[in-house]
Amino acid sequence: MPSSTRGCAVPDITESGIAGPDTTADAVASSPLLAVRDLRVAFRTRAGVVNAVNGLSFSVAPGEVLGIVGESGSGKSVSMYSMMGLLDNPNATITGSARFDGAELIGMPTKRLNRIRGNRISMIFQDPMTALTPVYTVGWQIVEQIMNHEKVTKAEAWSRAVHLLDEVGIPDAERRARSYPHEFSGGMRQRVMIAMSLACHPSLLIADEPTTALDVTTQRQILELIGDLQAKYGSSVILITHDMGVISEAADRVIVMYAGRAVEMGDESTVVRRPRHPYTWGLLGAIPKPGQRKQRLPTIPGLPPGPRDQPTGCPFQKRCRFAMEQCSTLPPLIATGEEQNHLDACWLPDEVREELREEVA
Ligand SMILES: Nc1ncnc2c1ncn2[C@@H]1O[C@H](COP(=O)(O)OP(=O)(O)O)[C@@H](O)[C@H]1O
Ligand SMILES: [Mg+2]
Repeated sequence: MPSSTRGCAVPDITESGIAGPDTTADAVASSPLLAVRDLRVAFRTRAGVVNAVNGLSFSVAPGEVLGIVGESGSGKSVSMYSMMGLLDNPNATITGSARFDGAELIGMPTKRLNRIRGNRISMIFQDPMTALTPVYTVGWQIVEQIMNHEKVTKAEAWSRAVHLLDEVGIPDAERRARSYPHEFSGGMRQRVMIAMSLACHPSLLIADEPTTALDVTTQRQILELIGDLQAKYGSSVILITHDMGVISEAADRVIVMYAGRAVEMGDESTVVRRPRHPYTWGLLGAIPKPGQRKQRLPTIPGLPPGPRDQPTGCPFQKRCRFAMEQCSTLPPLIATGEEQNHLDACWLPDEVREELREEVA
């Protein structure tokens, strides 16, 4: 949808050019909406420096759903928050680049970021209450969101809010717009937050574990809703989850994150059907196969390294059944298999991996 037909004011993003020179991670999207390069986030704490994100590079193409998957603590949320200027932590050091539609987000002044947030990029969270205020009706909160970014009358904004609530599947939207967040169930509240995030037809929607707190049926409905709206508005989506099942249901492309790094990256179908990294094998093992009872989670023995005790070399080596001497050197994230846009960071030789995967899957 051209920006002139979007209701919201178009922020002044005048910088030209998208990203720096092509890197391996660039190979996946020629003209990305978002290009993240070597993003690093470190927190100074009393106990020492916590390296939460360690050189993350990826791109999001217009209209695609990029899934980011990894266990809790792998740096998924911190990488998104740091990009969006939402870390709000004086002890955090953020370096690297995140170019959105040509404009650098890292270090962008708050005033300018505010014009992009909630307008061209919006976020939905695991807990809708982090975005919703308990003391205002949901309709009013959507109205406020619209009026923050656009010059429209209250009556116009209200009718758009009701339309949005209807669109995300809130029954009797006209009446429900006058309800408070606590009067909705968890799934319905998540729908309200989606309505709010779509108020200005963002080009990029970042959904951080949007279905984690929901039962399986509601989870599926919310994923379908995000997919439908994404198709309708042509927005790009970054979908963050710890669940490979969510990835295979909703993502076009996937990044597997471990200890603040991308360890595998590629098209969803390729990564799910022909995973290359032993960590991805473990994550996929956590999905019950058809006819199989749900397995105990997690299926990967051990815990991720604490952010303070990152080993040199491959961060997964301590939990990896296939670790070898070479793993004390950090493997690069490169295409080692047949497909150019299927990247992984592992030293295992190709033919060994083919064999092992058969055995593990
Ligand atoms: N304010 C903070 N101070 C220190 N460490 C933090 C802070 N916020 C997050 N971290 C650490 O950063 C790492 C990544 O966290 P996070 O991005 O929330 O993981 P995920 O979203 O993948 O579950 C975790 O180890 C977490 O403990
Ligand atoms: Mg998180």
